[in-house]
Amino acid sequence: MKKLFLFVFFVHLNNLFAQQLDPAIESKVNALIDQMTIEEKIGQMNQYNGFWNVTGPTPKEGDAAEKFQNLASGLVGSMLNVRGVEEVREVQKIAVEQTRLGIPLIIGFDLIHGYKTVSPIPLAESASWDLESIKRSAELAAKEAAAAGINWTFAPMVDITRDARWGRVMEGAGEDPFLGSQIAIARVKGFQGEDLSLPGTIAACAKHFAGYGFAEAGRDYNTVDIGLNTLHNMVLPPFKAAADAGVRTFMNSFNDLNGIPSTADRYLQRDILKKDWNFNGFVVSDWGSIREMIDHGYAKDRKHAGELALKGGSDMDMESLIYIEHLKSLLEEGKVKVSEINDAVRRILRVKFELGLFEDPYRYCNETREQLVTGSKEIVEGALDMAKKSIVLLKNHDKLLPLKKKDQKIALIGPLAADKNSPLGNWRIAAENESAISLLEGMKNYKGNELIYEQGVRLINKIPAGFHEEVDINEDDYSGIEAAVRAAENSDIVIMVLGEYGFQSGEGRSRAHIDLPGLQQDLLEAVYEVNKNIVLVLMNGRPLILNWADEHIPAILESWHLGSQSGHAIAQVLYGDYNPSGKLPMSFPRSEGQLPIYYNQKSTGRPGANGGDNGSVFWSHYGDEKNSPLYPFGFGLSYTTFSYSDIQLSNDIMNDGEDIIASVIVKNTGNKTGKEVVQLYLKDHYASAVRPTRELKGFELVELKPGESKKIEFKINRQLLSFYNALGVWEAEKGDFTVFIGTDSNTKRKASFVLN
Ligand code: NOJ
Repeated sequence: MKKLFLFVFFVHLNNLFAQQLDPAIESKVNALIDQMTIEEKIGQMNQYNGFWNVTGPTPKEGDAAEKFQNLASGLVGSMLNVRGVEEVREVQKIAVEQTRLGIPLIIGFDLIHGYKTVSPIPLAESASWDLESIKRSAELAAKEAAAAGINWTFAPMVDITRDARWGRVMEGAGEDPFLGSQIAIARVKGFQGEDLSLPGTIAACAKHFAGYGFAEAGRDYNTVDIGLNTLHNMVLPPFKAAADAGVRTFMNSFNDLNGIPSTADRYLQRDILKKDWNFNGFVVSDWGSIREMIDHGYAKDRKHAGELALKGGSDMDMESLIYIEHLKSLLEEGKVKVSEINDAVRRILRVKFELGLFEDPYRYCNETREQLVTGSKEIVEGALDMAKKSIVLLKNHDKLLPLKKKDQKIALIGPLAADKNSPLGNWRIAAENESAISLLEGMKNYKGNELIYEQGVRLINKIPAGFHEEVDINEDDYSGIEAAVRAAENSDIVIMVLGEYGFQSGEGRSRAHIDLPGLQQDLLEAVYEVNKNIVLVLMNGRPLILNWADEHIPAILESWHLGSQSGHAIAQVLYGDYNPSGKLPMSFPRSEGQLPIYYNQKSTGRPGANGGDNGSVFWSHYGDEKNSPLYPFGFGLSYTTFSYSDIQLSNDIMNDGEDIIASVIVKNTGNKTGKEVVQLYLKDHYASAVRPTRELKGFELVELKPGESKKIEFKINRQLLSFYNALGVWEAEKGDFTVFIGTDSNTKRKASFVLN
């Protein structure tokens, strides 16, 4: 008995330690909960959209008056889409001064890629593979948003995404769980800093838990059906990494996962997240996702949906308005327990205490700070720095780039060349419209050349009102092509700026055809007829199909949607003032038929000889398309070149308790200083469950001067070799492994070892 007690005590202490609960905060939370009525508790679990902006289906007319009243009655724990010190103070004042207990609101916002100063879309930032810069970018975004009254961001989105048809690939870190995990950690740490109660830090939110990125056929909100193997090995690792990095909140997802809407998924939210991972922050539903369980055909009515959501581990109701409507009667009817409500409230209050909101509810409401910080030099320079690092050079035949700085006649052509909106990307609710530096503006800083601009074709017919409107693409007005062709004819070099309008990727923006939209391909081909010296600058939120361009256009630069400083960043790269170093975080397909396409596919029983024809049709392939992507994961060029030595392994057997060091010498063999992302992949040859053909397990960003070389070392240990196996255990299995180190996921340089 004594032994058991000691054991329980130890486990308890251990959990307390692992969760890093602050006993002082815990006792304040408990004391407050003791004073709360059931209505007040349920109020804490209710999150309202603000009265000014909307990021989901539009609420009903007349909602606002009722919401204000509920706010004053202590029936609201959080608001989203309230921003700016004035607005935040207004609602916070009601919560603090008019409610019985004066519990402050936590103010949530989609700070996805910057606030007023817009940083590159997350997919673009991920292309930098530069964890310090990504962390810094989140830090600066948090600083600017916190100065505007916000204390909680609904980011990072850590969904693994393999299907470029899904519009939200722009919001994540791409297809790889290892890269995704590292980026999740960087972003969580950037937003939250070391101390959540400091003025420039805010709570982060890992979303969408879980599987949302695997929406069938890339159609947003669609069903997700994946096995436990994919769930644990591919989907969950970045969430786990975020939880281990101390992320304070999670958001669940709209999709059902193997038949259960995530919002009510006990296995995910209670067993894995809150129990196995010891997560002690809170889970917010996605916008209306509790109510949507009725449409899923999972809940019979609103009340039933509320019951299922709470039982499933959803602590806060975003905009379904179901918890405040039904939780009390569900409790009275014995359908939910007071302990379940208390647990949710405890989690929410804990985060509010950690943010320092009880000490000073107006901690984030300082007008002077707001003025000083918004758009400050530090933040703008940070956005520019991140933007340059996010650009990927996809092709540079005959060193067409960088451009010469003098005596050139340059034609800048394309619907996105002067666009000051699209570079802002999708999540820019707080930014001024038309506030990005266009490439035309960026190019004008370089005065040694003659610059002519022609739009060529319009991409859209009218500017969408914002978040809610479908983008109307121009499909029939060719009238500008002739002038563009004339401009190209008379120029030494043509820069074509093509891609997606800013709102063409993002939530609700799935596309079945992911080529250049509208008449852009016609424009490109018409210009090519008269001048082949073309640099194609792409602005887009997802991988596009670029076969024709890859075959014909000598230089291609992937610039994504780079945010406020887009034009400066691209111009500096085009002119060689910044040597591009980005690498693709997602494979670029050759056709939609290949989707989903990703490098870390599992081995099939019919791989074909060397991934190619083995003399018959009976191998895993298409009769009309290659298996390989156009540009693979991890791919990106530089204005310099790098050579790699063979791989050295410190041992070719890994015994218990031992590590292996894998090393290569990387040399800058060109004549410009440049950065290379040295990538380590591992292949586990046979296991109790089929393993991917290779998996990223390490990378290092190294800067080298011309002629300089550096030894890059990777430590391989059991943890790195572990996976969710056939027994549902996370462990390494004995056997043969191959190590690949190189410049992208196709690298052939290899060595092997045995795990004993
Ligand atoms: C719905 C989106 O799925 C989610 O990511 C976002 O945070 C919420 N809307 C709030 O805007």
